[in-house]
Amino acid sequence: MNDFYQLNGAEFHTFRAIFVYMNIIMSEVLERIEKKEFKIGIIGLGYVGLPLLWTFHKHGFNVIGFDVDESKINSIDSGKSYIKHFSHEQIQILSDSDECMVTTDFKKISSVDAILICVPTPLDRFREPDMSFVVETTNTVSQYLQKGQLVVLESTTWPGTTDELMTVILERRSGLKVGEDFHIAYSPEREDPGNPDFDTQTIPKIVGASNEVSQQIAVSLYSKVIDKVVPVSSAKVAESAKLLENIFRSVNIALVNEMKVIMDVMDIDVHEVIDAAATKPFGFMKFTPGPGLGGHCIPIDPFYLSWKAREYGLNTRFIELAGEVNNAMPQFVVDKTILALNEQGKAVKGSSILIMGIAYKPNVDDMRESPSFPIMDKLAKLGANVEYYDPWIPKIPKSREHMNWFGKESVNWDKKTIGAFDCVLIITDHKDIDYSELLTLSNCIIDTRNAIKVDPLKKLNHIYKA
Ligand SMILES: NC(=O)c1ccc[n+]([C@@H]2O[C@H](COP(=O)([O-])OP(=O)(O)OC[C@H]3O[C@@H](n4cnc5c(N)ncnc54)[C@H](O)[C@@H]3O)[C@@H](O)[C@H]2O)c1
Repeated sequence: MNDFYQLNGAEFHTFRAIFVYMNIIMSEVLERIEKKEFKIGIIGLGYVGLPLLWTFHKHGFNVIGFDVDESKINSIDSGKSYIKHFSHEQIQILSDSDECMVTTDFKKISSVDAILICVPTPLDRFREPDMSFVVETTNTVSQYLQKGQLVVLESTTWPGTTDELMTVILERRSGLKVGEDFHIAYSPEREDPGNPDFDTQTIPKIVGASNEVSQQIAVSLYSKVIDKVVPVSSAKVAESAKLLENIFRSVNIALVNEMKVIMDVMDIDVHEVIDAAATKPFGFMKFTPGPGLGGHCIPIDPFYLSWKAREYGLNTRFIELAGEVNNAMPQFVVDKTILALNEQGKAVKGSSILIMGIAYKPNVDDMRESPSFPIMDKLAKLGANVEYYDPWIPKIPKSREHMNWFGKESVNWDKKTIGAFDCVLIITDHKDIDYSELLTLSNCIIDTRNAIKVDPLKKLNHIYKA
């Protein structure tokens, strides 16, 4: 028999009174969400947080954006975007609006109803989860946490973070109780920067909480701004689903990268093979090989699960193998470059090499984890003079990992400059690059993205696929 049936008369009435009271509070909360009176705080205004702030604001919610980076706050206040695919006009709308404020003053957390957290979750130098940003933010939130507030983590992370790490910190430091005094949920961000077909509103949003009240509030809130909300039974399910999505991609990219290496030795065009296989209308999903993984997600997220699995004595062999294959790709590209130069009677040492594209994927200005950097490092170590061209990143900004390249500027796109390089490596296939002109300018091109479409029957002897 469960506890409910063991209540005596007085206890039953107290329980019923609490139940009725909770229902009244709950319907008030849901009504405030429905009327868009819920005030939204978003912590971390980067590639994920800024579009999220925009989405809630666009749908008529009053929003406050928080970031520790003062330059981002100043940039928004002065109507200037710091993310290339997020327009100055959008920022101007935010900065002109009375319904939007951005600040470094975290005391204002106490004035919002929902706190959505979008801070980084990188790997540390031992390639283990670096939870310092999540912990620091949770500590800050705990200082200002109010009764009735909803906290949602959106950062990608290991299963259990919301319940085992954040809830514990919030309860211990604030003295409030989850599910009664405050609410907490996990909703993974699936933003795909630069993707013209999907944005924050149109990407279905998974929401999971480990108690019913939190779940109901979080689902209602996201349903006001996201076309399709997918409720799941717990925060852990939502955390794991996000990891599965990215592990799926990492493993499949590794598979086509391995296929590329095999096809290369057999002198078979892997891209033609993949395109042919992709004509099967079921049971095949097209992935394309490349120079290695990049971005803040695919190279990193799988290792959040590996790390957590170790706690249970489990090895994640698929994840490790995919990481191994993908991590070997920059060296594969360098080896191809050495061979290509050799065919022209040149050594890497002393050669001038142009890296085309240092963003981790086309048409974005994000260079985090970009495979361009290990390739540039390796070539520079071999004595090459390395330059880059990237219309999306005119100057290499400060970053956690690539300070040796900080401040370097993109070369200009002109016949004389581009034509002077001994070898050009296409690492990122931005759409606004004239590849047919490149064909006429360079007599040694390493194409890691199949950016230059050549009729397979008319092989050009100065293009090397890698
Ligand atoms: N970028 C993507 O395409 C993408 C897609 C899906 C999921 N994610 C996940 O979303 C999360 C955020 O990624 P991002 O790309 O937006 O990162 P980002 O580095 O672009 O932005 C994070 C922001 O958080 C701020 N920040 C750091 N510590 C803070 C603190 N203590 N308090 C307040 N602000 C703080 C930083 O200044 C920065 O502006 C990560 O977990 C990432 O894995 C990213």
